[in-house]
Amino acid sequence: MHAHDLAADVAEVLITEDQIRLKVAELGARLNADYLGHELTLVSVLKGSLPFMADLMRAVTIPVTIDLMEVSSYGGLATETSGLVRILKDLSSSIEGRDVLIVEDIIDTGLTLNYLVRYLRGKGPSSLRICTLLDKPARRLVEIPIDYRGFEIPDRFVVGYGLDYDERYRNLPYIGVLRPEVYGGT
Ligand code: IMP
Repeated sequence: MHAHDLAADVAEVLITEDQIRLKVAELGARLNADYLGHELTLVSVLKGSLPFMADLMRAVTIPVTIDLMEVSSYGGLATETSGLVRILKDLSSSIEGRDVLIVEDIIDTGLTLNYLVRYLRGKGPSSLRICTLLDKPARRLVEIPIDYRGFEIPDRFVVGYGLDYDERYRNLPYIGVLRPEVYGGT
């Protein structure tokens, strides 16, 4: 079997495991305080948010239920800017009358989330807020009200802790930037 060390492809670690752990604990504490006396429904978007969701739900001590969606954006420039999103996996339970928190890995242009927020709002939750681990504001095309933000990062393509390049590197326990050679270019 070909041995390939994923970590060897990483040029720079932007956010360490320890930093992620501390931030998730901090976000969990804020959620516990803000939703005290409520029951929270965490809705996460596969696949990138999986590690964040798994850690965040365990940082929360109030009662939670979870649900998972999977979406894919249509390729191509015209559709990219329209923010058309295809739902590959829908919610499995009704969120009507529930306090819902969207758990996202990263907000880049904001188009995916913009669509998702409109979609979920249409399902009649009693409240709907957004929690994202990473915020890349440089490329934002639509305004997104972010209620809980882990880290603001510069306009660089990052991998790890759920985030992929060509479906790989999701299992790295930290957030990093790949060596340019990995992209097959320069
Ligand atoms: P948006 O609709 O442009 O905000 O895109 C959001 C989605 O694009 C995220 O959920 C990620 O799947 C992907 N994405 C955006 N930036 C990055 C990145 O730096 N690394 C990996 N995936 C990214």
